[in-house]
Amino acid sequence: MLTISDKKALREQLVEWHQVGDSVALVPTMGNLHKGHMSLVQLAAEQAERVVVTVFVNPTQFGPGEDFSDYPRTPEKDERQLKRAGVDVLYMPTVDDIYPLGIENTTRIIVPGLSETLDGEHRPGHFDGVSSVVLRLFNIVMPNIAIFGQKDYQQLVILRRMAEDLHLPVKILAGKTFREDSGLAMSSRNQYLADAELELAPVLYQALCAAREQLLEGGADVGAIEAAGIDMLRQAGFEPDYFSVRRAADLVPVDKAGGNLVILAAAMLGKARLIDNLIVET
Ligand code: PAJ
Repeated sequence: MLTISDKKALREQLVEWHQVGDSVALVPTMGNLHKGHMSLVQLAAEQAERVVVTVFVNPTQFGPGEDFSDYPRTPEKDERQLKRAGVDVLYMPTVDDIYPLGIENTTRIIVPGLSETLDGEHRPGHFDGVSSVVLRLFNIVMPNIAIFGQKDYQQLVILRRMAEDLHLPVKILAGKTFREDSGLAMSSRNQYLADAELELAPVLYQALCAAREQLLEGGADVGAIEAAGIDMLRQAGFEPDYFSVRRAADLVPVDKAGGNLVILAAAMLGKARLIDNLIVET
């Protein structure tokens, strides 16, 4: 595995692979890799001849007062894990490499509408930062395929929309959410949870499962299902930001079950902001 931090060196390697016709799959991450990330790496290896993983804690997607400086950074461990998984290139750029004009002056990519709801409402500007960095990574790596986790469902929908709208020659694939045995979705932010909170954290998944059951049974009012989800989280000690049933394709709110839906939830538990979702085909 080559570990590269300079985009010129990366480009030279990628041009070589493209010239011999090797397909390239990209897995963008912020590092501190867990089994969820590694399942995306495995999917990438099944889909393309060459796998590039990026580790970059992107400053533009963190709001003021969020956890940019505390975000766990474990580059040596990440590098060892990726090497063992047979990854071809680990790209670990500097902020200057990605944002040569500095983050204040950088060109921003905004996917309107989709970026303003749910997490976008609670983390203003977050998804602008995500789309702005992912487009840059696409332009630097020029992948045939890019893989994102369903765990960050809104992010996935936004990036799909960006790729389609900007005619990007990249196929976006989704990897399913990797969970602990308790049902808790794996996340680097789970490390912020104290032991007692870690025991409560699976309630987020349980609340989503309960809502899914109700939607599948039919008849129940979506507003009541959402209110019950919020209630269950509050009673367990979470501070919920939202618990919402949306159309899976474009996150439009729905008032009754039918078609492909997604239930999305975000809540603070102690210092950690946890998000999760479940797809429901009603
Ligand atoms: P990060 O949180 O490191 O996640 C990197 C990728 O791993 C994302 O596509 C995310 O959806 C996926 N992922 C996270 N937890 C997962 C789990 N439990 N199971 C399966 N996949 C999981 O998401 C980001 O970084 C950033 O926003 C990024 C896209 C890299 C842009 O900076």
